[in-house]
Amino acid sequence: METRIVKIDENHIDKGLMEEAVEIIKNGGLVAFPTETVYGLGANGLNEEAVRKIFQAKGRPQDNPLILHVHSTQQVKELVVEIPEIARICMEKFWPGPITFLLKRSQIVPDIITAGLDTVAIRMPENKIALELIRMANTPIAAPSANISGRPSPTSANHVIDDLMGKVHMIIDGGKTGVGLESTVLDLSGDLPMILRPGGVTKEELSQIIPNIAIDSSIMREGEGIVPKSPGQKYRHYAPKAEMIVYNGEIHSIVEAIRDNTKRYKEIGKSVGIICTDETKGLYTHGYIISMGSRKNKETIARNLFNILRTLDGKEIDIILAEGVELSDLGIAIMNRMMKAASGNVIDV
Ligand code: TXA
Ligand code: MG
Repeated sequence: METRIVKIDENHIDKGLMEEAVEIIKNGGLVAFPTETVYGLGANGLNEEAVRKIFQAKGRPQDNPLILHVHSTQQVKELVVEIPEIARICMEKFWPGPITFLLKRSQIVPDIITAGLDTVAIRMPENKIALELIRMANTPIAAPSANISGRPSPTSANHVIDDLMGKVHMIIDGGKTGVGLESTVLDLSGDLPMILRPGGVTKEELSQIIPNIAIDSSIMREGEGIVPKSPGQKYRHYAPKAEMIVYNGEIHSIVEAIRDNTKRYKEIGKSVGIICTDETKGLYTHGYIISMGSRKNKETIARNLFNILRTLDGKEIDIILAEGVELSDLGIAIMNRMMKAASGNVIDV
């Protein structure tokens, strides 16, 4: 399949190019597009055949449900049985933005979207290209992250091109994404609101509206027979080619541990990549050293993380030693992705 790559400026949206994209969606094809979190791989969310193509292009397991993207709260109504009061308040406060709500699904949502579950995931993205695409297509757009399953989510059009060239009809290049990590997934379908995936909207922000908010305890653990409530959380994810270890604890101890281990790995002939921060960069003398940004700015770290994992894939590296970050605010989402990238290989120091 030939993939058409088009550049669209979020602030001066080219109507002609958008119409081409909409034609593809209407004809049951695939369009990769930017959102404020990561790039999405979009298809008409109410067309089962079109949605099936998403799973094929990504190599995604069939039991992992997809998010439907909407451009208005009006559009949510037909997709769900009801919109509970708490969902109404959260949509008002956080949409458009990096948060997905799970609600009880209606019958018009195809089974392939929900993987047979009785809930449907819905998000209104903030990126203007995404919103315009959904509005013009006049249908909810199903879109997982636009990467091959298991790889880090794409935060630039080049990442999408690397993974999906020849597998999709169009890739819209709208520049680098702002948040850099996927949306928070918040289950509002039961009695207890629960975060199933930490993301762009933090637990602290949500607590202001939902004081009793819970967080799925599997988020920070892997293995040990732990079953996450969100199917997507159980798969190996964001995985770089090299083995990866995340060091968690007080920063001086982290640096010391990484320095010691770099030496040890070098001695046995392994090439080391170090994921660090601006504050600590100068403390390492060996290995391929790459900073996520300042520890004082978790937004920057979130924005850079996936690109760094992909950059390291392009180097001849055997093992990646990564500094963990504080488990607060966006730090929870950052550590969740790092832990998964490391297949649960987290060492407390
Ligand atoms: O920021 C984002 O959310 C991006 C952009 C493109 O919007 N999308 C994204 O989609 O990250 P995806 O498919 O890569 O991740 C969706 C997550 C998966 O972990 C999936 O298991 C979960 O949401 N999910 C979707 N529907 C669900 C449902 N009904 N119940 C539980 N989890 C669900
Ligand atoms: Mg994904």
